[in-house]
Amino acid sequence: MIIRAVGQFGRPHGTAGRVAGWVMAHRGSNRQRNLWVVSLLDVQPADRVLEIGFGPGLAIAELARHVTDGHIYGIDHSEVMVRQASKHNATAIRARRVELLHTSVDRLPRFDEPLDAIVAVNSIGFWPNPPDQLTQLRGLLRPGGRIALASQPRCPGATADTTARASQELHDLLTQAGFIQPRTETLHLSPPVACALATNPGDGQP
Ligand SMILES: C[S@@+](CC[C@H](N)C(=O)[O-])C[C@H]1O[C@@H](n2cnc3c(N)ncnc32)[C@H](O)[C@@H]1O
Repeated sequence: MIIRAVGQFGRPHGTAGRVAGWVMAHRGSNRQRNLWVVSLLDVQPADRVLEIGFGPGLAIAELARHVTDGHIYGIDHSEVMVRQASKHNATAIRARRVELLHTSVDRLPRFDEPLDAIVAVNSIGFWPNPPDQLTQLRGLLRPGGRIALASQPRCPGATADTTARASQELHDLLTQAGFIQPRTETLHLSPPVACALATNPGDGQP
C-alpha cells in the first residue's frame, strides 16, 4: 500500500514523539497541506466535523476558523498529540467549539447527531483496516455528508508518481466503502499531496 507509512509519525510517543509533533506543527509543507485540505472540504459555519489523526492540530485550528457555530471533534491515538493539539487549540476548546479525544479510529466514539464532514490528513496509512474503518465512518455521516482523505507520501524517494498511486488508492477505498461522487485533487508540493473527496449517498441513493 503506497499510503502506508512508518515511524514516530504513526503514533508519536515520549521525547521523540514530542519532537515529531513539533516538526509536523512547523514544517511549511505540513501547514500548507492541512490548510489546503480544509479549503477543499468547504466547511460551513454550522457544520459538525470530525478529524481522524489530527497530530499537532493544524487542520483542527483551520477548521475552527470556519466552523464558528457548529462543532469540531478530533480523535488521535497518541497521548502526546492530544496534549500538543489541545494546547494549540486551547481557546476553541475552552469555548466548547472543539473537542479532542484520545482514541483510535477502530474505537470510534458515539456522536449524538450525524456529522457533516470527516477529514484525515496523512493518517489513513496507519489505520489497522481502512476499508472497515471507512465503512464505519460513513455510518457517522448524514446523507450528503462529505469526506476528504489526504496523503503526502513521506517514504524515502517519494515522487509525483508515488502521489498519483496514493491518489488512486484513496479514490478506490472511498468507492469500495460506498461513498459516491469521488474526485481527486493534487497540491503541487514536493512530493505532491493527493486528496480524495467523496459524498455519503443521500436518502434513496444507492
Ligand atoms: C503523520 S501524522 C499526521 C498528523 C496531521 N494530520 C498532519 O497532517 O499534520 C499521523 C497522525 O495520525 C494519528 N493516528 C495514526 N493512526 C491512528 C489511529 N488508528 N487512530 C487515531 N489516530 C491515528 C497519529 O497518532 C498521528 O498523530
